[in-house]
Amino acid sequence: MEYKILILGNGGREYAIGLHLLKDSRCKKLYFAPGNGGTFHIGENFSFSTHQDLIEKIQKFDINLVIIGPEAYIIDGISDSLRLAGIKVFGPSKKAGILEGSKAYMKDFITRYKVPTASYIQTSDFIKAKEFLETLQSPYVIKADGLCAGKGVIITSNKQEALQSIQEMLSGEKFGNEGKCVVIEEYLDGIELSVFAICDGKDYVLLPACQDHKRLLDNDMGPNTGGMGAYAPAPFCDDNLMKKIANKIIQPTLDGLKQENNPFEGVLFAGIMVRDINGEKEPFLLEYNVRFGDPECEVLMPLLKTPLIDICESVIKREIKKVKIEFYEKSALAVVIASKEYPYTQAKPQKITFNNYDESLGHIVFAGVTMQDKNMIATGGRVLLSVGIGENLKIAKDNAYQIIKSIDFSGMQYRRDIGHRIDEVCK
Ligand code: AMP
Ligand code: GLY
Repeated sequence: MEYKILILGNGGREYAIGLHLLKDSRCKKLYFAPGNGGTFHIGENFSFSTHQDLIEKIQKFDINLVIIGPEAYIIDGISDSLRLAGIKVFGPSKKAGILEGSKAYMKDFITRYKVPTASYIQTSDFIKAKEFLETLQSPYVIKADGLCAGKGVIITSNKQEALQSIQEMLSGEKFGNEGKCVVIEEYLDGIELSVFAICDGKDYVLLPACQDHKRLLDNDMGPNTGGMGAYAPAPFCDDNLMKKIANKIIQPTLDGLKQENNPFEGVLFAGIMVRDINGEKEPFLLEYNVRFGDPECEVLMPLLKTPLIDICESVIKREIKKVKIEFYEKSALAVVIASKEYPYTQAKPQKITFNNYDESLGHIVFAGVTMQDKNMIATGGRVLLSVGIGENLKIAKDNAYQIIKSIDFSGMQYRRDIGHRIDEVCK
């Protein structure tokens, strides 16, 4: 069968999915909506307004598979609308999207099913929030309930600042309605992992664990970002830990969703904190996302050997257990190249220059870019990713940093230490 595939989204994650699909001879054409200046070169970009408008364009272009990238589309119910229109779609329902759409719901839900997580309170009442905060030790973790474009989590050692953040969220000043309920949590110290489960509503398969780097600056300093770099597979996640993640976190979650008549179909992304408890690695769930991570997707896609088309089809047919999901025996490491003001504000658009690089080292992923008069312009926060591929993580890292030398734009910033944990955690 031949495929015309639409990928919804405009970031590096969507570009990386596109690159993987292009290697599949069954994929005759790629569409992106809205796409970016890079996806423009590997497919056709189009924009849409309403769900109906999107459905009409999908039908007009004879698109026979839709893959949803960002959570906002899922929480907006696009997968439900497309399914109703008889269009094949890889992405969970709006109802299942609540695992990411409401942190308060998610915490209550996983607590009902005894998934290990930080102790917490969810409330809209400032006095209750303050009382709970008083029981915690610094640093304090304050989360807005809803979607806040990755900015809804405040971690601070300053109690006054914590109380002020709670006040600003609850009043609606900070995130509007998305912050009118807050989650306040115990701070968990440990090593963070990103784990992805491909779920078909009945069964699931886990992908190799990834390690993201959330902070803006080297040595894990500076503010939290959407992610400044990632690598896979993460050697820290041994088989024993993966089994614990499956048995203590993923399985009870999916069983709970089924029990509550809300089966999950798509990619379930577990943000895990691994704590050292009496010398044992113990996983705790920080958050769920209902999609691939970004930049994690950019390191998983080049390693994925099994065609993504087969994975999507098997999820849609509820036969995920019938596919053997295989990965190349290599490593990938991605370094995010961001614009000057990221993550604070939008920087002035800048023209990017590219020099040749050795393509056997890896590739560049295009994210916050636009095409203007045949020039590639940096217009977003996370602009490009340099993805190194190699026989091991060390080589993948060297390759990623080698490719960066071929990229230049005014104000570009990136971390010099992506992968710094590789040696430290793999003793
Ligand atoms: P979330 O969006 O809930 O994953 O939070 C964003 C980031 O904040 C996570 O990736 C962690 O680095 C950090 N974080 C969230 N919750 C906690 C917690 N309870 N303890 C320590 N760090 C946390
Ligand atoms: N890299 C974390 C995320 O996609 O939310």
